[in-house]
Amino acid sequence: MGINILGMGKYLPEQKLTNDDFSKFVDTGDEWIRSRTGIVERRMAGWEPTWYMGKTAAIRALEDAGVDASQVGLIISCTVTPDFLTPSMASIIQYEIGAQNAAAFDLNAACSGFVYAVDTARRFLETDDSLKYVLVVTNEALSRFVDFKDRSTCVLFGDGAAAALVEKSDKLFASYLASDGSGARSLFARNVAVAPEVAVESDFDDGFPEKPRHQLYQNGKEVYKFATAALPRSFDRAAEKAGVTKDDISYFIPHQANIRIIETAAKKMDVPMEKFIITLQRYGNTSCVSIPLALCEAIEAGTVRRGMKIALVGFGAGLTCGAVIMEY
Ligand code: UT7
Repeated sequence: MGINILGMGKYLPEQKLTNDDFSKFVDTGDEWIRSRTGIVERRMAGWEPTWYMGKTAAIRALEDAGVDASQVGLIISCTVTPDFLTPSMASIIQYEIGAQNAAAFDLNAACSGFVYAVDTARRFLETDDSLKYVLVVTNEALSRFVDFKDRSTCVLFGDGAAAALVEKSDKLFASYLASDGSGARSLFARNVAVAPEVAVESDFDDGFPEKPRHQLYQNGKEVYKFATAALPRSFDRAAEKAGVTKDDISYFIPHQANIRIIETAAKKMDVPMEKFIITLQRYGNTSCVSIPLALCEAIEAGTVRRGMKIALVGFGAGLTCGAVIMEY
Protein backbone atom coordinates (compact mmCIF):
# COMPACT_ATOMS: atom_id res chain seq x y z
CA MET A 1 0.00 0.00 0.00
CA GLY A 2 1.19 3.50 -0.84
CA ILE A 3 -0.01 7.00 -0.10
CA ASN A 4 -1.31 9.89 -2.10
CA ILE A 5 -0.24 13.43 -1.24
CA LEU A 6 -3.59 15.20 -1.57
CA GLY A 7 -2.40 18.69 -0.71
CA MET A 8 0.57 20.68 0.51
CA GLY A 9 1.11 24.05 2.17
CA LYS A 10 4.05 26.12 3.37
CA TYR A 11 4.67 29.11 5.58
CA LEU A 12 7.75 31.30 5.61
CA PRO A 13 8.23 34.18 8.04
CA GLU A 14 8.76 37.48 6.27
CA GLN A 15 12.00 38.56 7.93
CA LYS A 16 15.06 37.68 5.84
CA LEU A 17 18.72 37.56 6.83
CA THR A 18 21.20 37.83 3.96
CA ASN A 19 24.78 36.60 4.10
CA ASP A 20 25.95 40.20 4.34
CA ASP A 21 23.75 40.73 7.41
CA PHE A 22 25.85 38.13 9.28
CA SER A 23 29.10 39.96 8.55
CA LYS A 24 27.81 42.72 10.87
CA PHE A 25 28.11 40.48 13.94
CA VAL A 26 30.44 37.54 13.12
CA ASP A 27 33.65 37.25 11.11
CA THR A 28 32.11 35.94 7.88
CA GLY A 29 31.04 37.10 4.44
CA ASP A 30 28.88 36.36 1.44
CA GLU A 31 31.81 34.79 -0.46
CA TRP A 32 32.50 32.14 2.22
CA ILE A 33 28.86 31.26 2.90
CA ARG A 34 27.86 31.13 -0.77
CA SER A 35 30.86 29.11 -1.94
CA ARG A 36 30.93 26.67 1.02
CA THR A 37 27.16 26.11 1.36
CA GLY A 38 25.23 27.63 -1.55
CA ILE A 39 23.08 29.59 0.92
CA VAL A 40 22.26 33.21 0.04
CA GLU A 41 19.51 34.11 2.50
CA ARG A 42 17.24 32.53 5.10
CA ARG A 43 14.02 33.41 6.98
CA MET A 44 13.79 34.28 10.69
CA ALA A 45 10.73 33.58 12.82
CA GLY A 46 11.39 36.41 15.26
CA TRP A 47 8.61 36.20 17.87
CA GLU A 48 6.29 34.01 15.84
CA PRO A 49 5.82 30.71 17.71
CA THR A 50 6.93 27.56 15.91
CA TRP A 51 3.38 26.17 16.16
CA TYR A 52 2.02 29.28 14.43
CA MET A 53 4.16 28.58 11.38
CA GLY A 54 3.10 24.91 11.43
CA LYS A 55 -0.56 25.77 11.87
CA THR A 56 -0.49 28.16 8.91
CA ALA A 57 1.20 25.60 6.66
CA ALA A 58 -1.31 22.96 7.85
CA ILE A 59 -4.32 25.15 7.01
CA ARG A 60 -2.86 25.78 3.56
CA ALA A 61 -2.32 22.04 2.98
CA LEU A 62 -5.95 21.33 3.94
CA GLU A 63 -7.17 24.11 1.61
CA ASP A 64 -5.00 22.74 -1.19
CA ALA A 65 -6.51 19.28 -0.64
CA GLY A 66 -10.07 20.58 -0.24
CA VAL A 67 -10.45 18.62 3.00
CA ASP A 68 -12.01 19.93 6.22
CA ALA A 69 -9.87 19.76 9.38
CA SER A 70 -12.59 17.71 11.12
CA GLN A 71 -11.86 14.83 8.71
CA VAL A 72 -8.21 14.50 9.75
CA GLY A 73 -7.66 11.40 11.90
CA LEU A 74 -4.02 11.89 12.83
CA ILE A 75 -1.57 14.79 13.01
CA ILE A 76 2.15 14.10 13.12
CA SER A 77 4.23 17.18 13.78
CA CYS A 78 7.98 17.09 13.17
CA THR A 79 10.27 19.53 14.93
CA VAL A 80 13.49 19.82 16.90
CA THR A 81 12.55 23.33 18.02
CA PRO A 82 9.17 22.99 19.78
CA ASP A 83 7.68 25.89 21.75
CA PHE A 84 6.87 23.53 24.64
CA LEU A 85 8.46 20.33 25.92
CA THR A 86 4.87 19.29 26.51
CA PRO A 87 2.18 19.47 25.14
CA SER A 88 3.24 18.35 21.71
CA MET A 89 3.25 20.75 18.80
CA ALA A 90 0.80 18.37 17.13
CA SER A 91 -1.74 18.85 19.95
CA ILE A 92 -1.44 22.65 19.73
CA ILE A 93 -1.87 22.55 15.95
CA GLN A 94 -4.81 20.13 16.31
CA TYR A 95 -6.58 22.69 18.52
CA GLU A 96 -5.59 25.68 16.38
CA ILE A 97 -6.91 24.21 13.12
CA GLY A 98 -10.03 22.65 14.68
CA ALA A 99 -9.10 19.03 13.91
CA GLN A 100 -11.18 17.76 16.82
CA ASN A 101 -11.23 14.16 15.56
CA ALA A 102 -7.48 13.78 15.21
CA ALA A 103 -4.97 11.97 17.39
CA ALA A 104 -1.75 13.96 17.62
CA PHE A 105 1.89 13.39 18.43
CA ASP A 106 5.33 14.80 17.66
CA LEU A 107 8.11 12.98 15.89
CA ASN A 108 11.76 13.96 16.25
CA ALA A 109 14.11 12.52 13.65
CA ALA A 110 15.81 15.89 13.10
CA CYS A 111 16.37 16.70 9.41
CA SER A 112 15.11 13.23 8.42
CA GLY A 113 11.79 14.02 10.14
CA PHE A 114 9.57 14.33 7.07
CA VAL A 115 10.82 11.06 5.61
CA TYR A 116 10.20 9.29 8.95
CA ALA A 117 6.78 10.94 9.33
CA VAL A 118 5.53 10.12 5.84
CA ASP A 119 6.56 6.50 6.38
CA THR A 120 4.84 6.49 9.80
CA ALA A 121 1.69 8.00 8.28
CA ARG A 122 1.61 5.26 5.65
CA ARG A 123 1.89 2.56 8.30
CA PHE A 124 -0.98 4.09 10.34
CA LEU A 125 -3.13 4.28 7.21
CA GLU A 126 -2.35 0.68 6.32
CA THR A 127 -3.29 -0.72 9.74
CA ASP A 128 -6.33 1.41 10.61
CA ASP A 129 -9.26 1.20 8.21
CA SER A 130 -11.12 3.98 10.01
CA LEU A 131 -8.29 6.44 9.32
CA LYS A 132 -8.81 8.48 6.16
CA TYR A 133 -6.39 11.40 6.29
CA VAL A 134 -3.08 12.01 8.06
CA LEU A 135 -1.66 15.52 8.29
CA VAL A 136 2.12 15.70 8.47
CA VAL A 137 3.33 19.10 9.66
CA THR A 138 6.97 20.17 9.77
CA ASN A 139 7.85 23.37 11.64
CA GLU A 140 11.15 24.77 12.83
CA ALA A 141 12.46 27.94 14.42
CA LEU A 142 16.14 27.05 14.46
CA SER A 143 17.10 30.72 14.82
CA ARG A 144 16.01 30.48 18.48
CA PHE A 145 18.54 27.71 19.14
CA VAL A 146 21.62 28.74 17.18
CA ASP A 147 24.50 30.59 18.80
CA PHE A 148 24.72 33.88 16.91
CA LYS A 149 28.35 34.19 18.03
CA ASP A 150 29.32 30.89 16.35
CA ARG A 151 29.92 31.61 12.67
CA SER A 152 30.29 27.93 11.83
CA THR A 153 26.61 27.24 12.62
CA CYS A 154 24.60 30.48 12.76
CA VAL A 155 24.87 31.17 9.02
CA LEU A 156 23.50 27.76 8.06
CA PHE A 157 20.01 27.58 9.49
CA GLY A 158 16.61 29.14 8.75
CA ASP A 159 13.00 28.99 9.93
CA GLY A 160 9.71 27.98 8.31
CA ALA A 161 7.03 25.32 8.00
CA ALA A 162 5.53 22.96 5.44
CA ALA A 163 2.72 20.43 5.63
CA ALA A 164 1.26 17.57 3.61
CA LEU A 165 -2.14 15.89 3.80
CA VAL A 166 -1.92 12.23 2.85
CA GLU A 167 -4.40 9.41 2.23
CA LYS A 168 -4.18 5.72 1.30
CA SER A 169 -3.51 4.77 -2.30
CA ASP A 170 -2.15 1.92 -4.36
CA LYS A 171 0.66 4.05 -5.78
CA LEU A 172 4.30 2.98 -5.54
CA PHE A 173 5.85 3.52 -2.10
CA ALA A 174 9.04 2.20 -0.50
CA SER A 175 11.08 3.49 2.38
CA TYR A 176 14.36 3.02 4.21
CA LEU A 177 15.00 4.50 7.66
CA ALA A 178 18.20 4.34 9.73
CA SER A 179 19.94 5.84 12.75
CA ASP A 180 23.47 5.75 14.13
CA GLY A 181 23.45 7.08 17.70
CA SER A 182 27.24 6.87 17.89
CA GLY A 183 27.24 10.10 15.86
CA ALA A 184 24.99 11.95 18.33
CA ARG A 185 27.73 14.29 19.56
CA SER A 186 28.33 15.59 16.02
CA LEU A 187 25.05 17.53 16.05
CA PHE A 188 23.10 18.27 19.20
CA ALA A 189 21.30 20.77 21.44
CA ARG A 190 20.83 19.91 25.13
CA ASN A 191 17.76 20.15 27.31
CA VAL A 192 17.78 20.94 31.06
CA ALA A 193 20.69 19.57 33.10
CA VAL A 194 20.57 16.15 34.72
CA ALA A 195 21.69 16.45 38.37
CA PRO A 196 25.10 14.80 38.96
CA GLU A 197 23.67 12.54 41.68
CA VAL A 198 21.42 10.82 39.15
CA ALA A 199 24.25 10.19 36.72
CA VAL A 200 23.96 6.75 35.17
CA GLU A 201 26.56 4.31 33.99
CA SER A 202 26.98 4.96 30.29
CA ASP A 203 29.71 6.41 28.18
CA PHE A 204 27.11 8.12 25.99
CA ASP A 205 27.65 11.51 27.60
CA ASP A 206 31.47 11.36 27.38
CA GLY A 207 33.24 13.67 25.04
CA PHE A 208 30.39 16.00 24.10
CA PRO A 209 31.84 19.41 23.24
CA GLU A 210 30.98 22.24 25.62
CA LYS A 211 28.07 24.37 24.46
CA PRO A 212 25.70 26.57 26.46
CA ARG A 213 22.54 24.62 27.19
CA HIS A 214 19.95 24.45 24.35
CA GLN A 215 22.33 25.97 21.78
CA LEU A 216 22.96 23.96 18.66
CA TYR A 217 26.43 22.45 18.20
CA GLN A 218 27.58 20.90 14.92
CA ASN A 219 30.83 19.25 13.92
CA GLY A 220 30.38 20.23 10.29
CA LYS A 221 33.12 18.01 8.90
CA GLU A 222 31.83 14.84 10.61
CA VAL A 223 28.23 15.49 9.54
CA TYR A 224 29.40 16.33 6.02
CA LYS A 225 31.15 12.95 5.73
CA PHE A 226 28.05 11.17 7.03
CA ALA A 227 25.70 13.13 4.76
CA THR A 228 27.58 12.52 1.52
CA ALA A 229 27.51 8.76 2.20
CA ALA A 230 24.00 8.61 3.73
CA LEU A 231 22.28 10.33 0.82
CA PRO A 232 23.25 7.83 -1.92
CA ARG A 233 23.03 4.85 0.47
CA SER A 234 19.52 5.74 1.66
CA PHE A 235 18.34 6.17 -1.91
CA ASP A 236 19.88 2.85 -2.98
CA ARG A 237 18.25 0.92 -0.11
CA ALA A 238 14.80 2.38 -0.80
CA ALA A 239 15.20 1.93 -4.57
CA GLU A 240 16.04 -1.72 -4.06
CA LYS A 241 12.84 -2.20 -2.05
CA ALA A 242 10.81 -0.26 -4.62
CA GLY A 243 12.31 -2.22 -7.52
CA VAL A 244 13.31 0.97 -9.33
CA THR A 245 16.59 2.50 -10.49
CA LYS A 246 17.76 6.11 -10.46
CA ASP A 247 16.62 6.41 -14.09
CA ASP A 248 13.00 5.80 -13.03
CA ILE A 249 13.10 8.81 -10.71
CA SER A 250 11.95 12.14 -12.16
CA TYR A 251 13.17 14.25 -9.24
CA PHE A 252 15.27 13.82 -6.13
CA ILE A 253 14.30 16.03 -3.20
CA PRO A 254 17.16 15.84 -0.70
CA HIS A 255 17.51 17.55 2.67
CA GLN A 256 18.74 21.07 1.94
CA ALA A 257 21.84 21.46 4.14
CA ASN A 258 24.63 22.31 1.72
CA ILE A 259 24.83 22.42 -2.08
CA ARG A 260 28.24 20.71 -1.92
CA ILE A 261 26.69 17.68 -0.15
CA ILE A 262 24.08 17.38 -2.91
CA GLU A 263 26.67 17.84 -5.68
CA THR A 264 28.95 15.19 -4.17
CA ALA A 265 26.06 12.76 -3.76
CA ALA A 266 24.81 13.46 -7.29
CA LYS A 267 28.27 12.61 -8.64
CA LYS A 268 28.44 9.38 -6.60
CA MET A 269 24.97 8.42 -7.82
CA ASP A 270 25.75 9.46 -11.40
CA VAL A 271 22.59 11.58 -11.51
CA PRO A 272 22.60 15.04 -13.19
CA MET A 273 22.10 18.01 -10.83
CA GLU A 274 19.05 19.06 -12.91
CA LYS A 275 17.19 16.15 -11.31
CA PHE A 276 17.70 17.57 -7.81
CA ILE A 277 15.24 20.15 -6.45
CA ILE A 278 17.26 22.89 -4.71
CA THR A 279 15.85 25.65 -2.49
CA LEU A 280 18.63 26.07 0.08
CA GLN A 281 19.88 29.29 -1.53
CA ARG A 282 16.67 31.02 -0.38
CA TYR A 283 15.92 29.31 2.93
CA GLY A 284 19.15 27.79 4.29
CA ASN A 285 18.90 24.59 6.30
CA THR A 286 15.39 24.41 7.79
CA SER A 287 15.87 20.89 9.22
CA CYS A 288 12.79 18.68 8.73
CA VAL A 289 10.98 21.47 6.84
CA SER A 290 13.46 21.49 3.98
CA ILE A 291 12.21 18.44 2.04
CA PRO A 292 8.44 19.22 2.14
CA LEU A 293 9.17 22.90 1.49
CA ALA A 294 11.18 22.01 -1.62
CA LEU A 295 8.52 19.50 -2.71
CA CYS A 296 5.70 22.01 -2.14
CA GLU A 297 7.47 24.63 -4.26
CA ALA A 298 8.30 22.10 -6.99
CA ILE A 299 4.62 21.13 -7.18
CA GLU A 300 3.53 24.80 -7.23
CA ALA A 301 6.00 25.48 -10.07
CA GLY A 302 4.68 22.51 -12.07
CA THR A 303 8.08 20.81 -11.94
CA VAL A 304 6.85 17.80 -9.96
CA ARG A 305 3.64 16.52 -11.56
CA ARG A 306 1.17 13.70 -10.94
CA GLY A 307 2.42 10.29 -12.03
CA MET A 308 6.09 11.14 -11.53
CA LYS A 309 8.25 8.99 -9.28
CA ILE A 310 10.11 11.06 -6.72
CA ALA A 311 12.76 10.32 -4.10
CA LEU A 312 12.79 12.16 -0.77
CA VAL A 313 16.12 11.72 1.05
CA GLY A 314 16.87 13.00 4.55
CA PHE A 315 19.91 13.01 6.84
CA GLY A 316 20.71 14.83 10.05
CA ALA A 317 21.10 14.73 13.82
CA GLY A 318 20.92 11.34 15.46
CA LEU A 319 22.62 10.70 13.19
CA THR A 320 19.51 9.71 11.24
CA CYS A 321 18.91 9.20 7.57
CA GLY A 322 16.23 7.77 5.33
CA ALA A 323 14.56 7.79 1.95
CA VAL A 324 11.06 7.49 0.58
CA ILE A 325 10.45 6.62 -3.05
CA MET A 326 6.89 7.28 -4.13
CA GLU A 327 4.68 8.23 -7.00
CA TYR A 328 3.33 11.76 -6.66
O1 UT7 B 1 21.04 19.48 8.67
C1 UT7 B 1 21.81 18.56 9.35
C2 UT7 B 1 22.92 18.05 8.52
N1 UT7 B 1 23.98 19.04 8.47
C3 UT7 B 1 24.82 19.05 7.44
O2 UT7 B 1 24.65 18.28 6.54
C4 UT7 B 1 26.01 19.99 7.49
C5 UT7 B 1 27.26 19.28 7.02
N2 UT7 B 1 28.44 20.11 7.05
C6 UT7 B 1 28.65 21.15 6.20
O3 UT7 B 1 27.80 21.45 5.39
C7 UT7 B 1 29.98 21.86 6.23
O4 UT7 B 1 30.89 21.11 6.98
C8 UT7 B 1 29.91 23.32 6.80
C9 UT7 B 1 29.16 24.21 5.84
C10 UT7 B 1 29.20 23.29 8.15
C11 UT7 B 1 31.32 23.86 6.97
O5 UT7 B 1 32.02 23.82 5.72
P1 UT7 B 1 33.51 23.25 5.66
O6 UT7 B 1 33.97 23.40 4.28
O7 UT7 B 1 33.48 21.86 6.24
O8 UT7 B 1 34.29 24.25 6.59
P2 UT7 B 1 35.16 23.93 7.88
O9 UT7 B 1 34.28 23.64 9.04
O10 UT7 B 1 36.22 22.93 7.53
O11 UT7 B 1 35.88 25.31 8.10
C12 UT7 B 1 36.87 25.81 7.18
C13 UT7 B 1 37.31 27.16 7.66
C14 UT7 B 1 37.70 27.20 9.14
O12 UT7 B 1 38.78 28.08 9.26
P3 UT7 B 1 40.27 27.53 9.42
O13 UT7 B 1 40.26 26.67 10.66
O14 UT7 B 1 40.54 26.75 8.18
O15 UT7 B 1 41.07 28.77 9.55
C15 UT7 B 1 36.49 27.78 9.79
O16 UT7 B 1 36.81 28.47 10.99
O17 UT7 B 1 36.23 28.09 7.51
C16 UT7 B 1 36.02 28.77 8.75
N3 UT7 B 1 34.62 29.10 8.85
C17 UT7 B 1 34.12 30.25 8.38
N4 UT7 B 1 34.67 31.28 7.76
C18 UT7 B 1 33.89 32.30 7.40
C19 UT7 B 1 33.61 28.36 9.40
N5 UT7 B 1 32.45 29.02 9.28
C20 UT7 B 1 32.73 30.19 8.66
C21 UT7 B 1 31.96 31.28 8.26
N6 UT7 B 1 32.57 32.31 7.63
N7 UT7 B 1 30.62 31.34 8.47
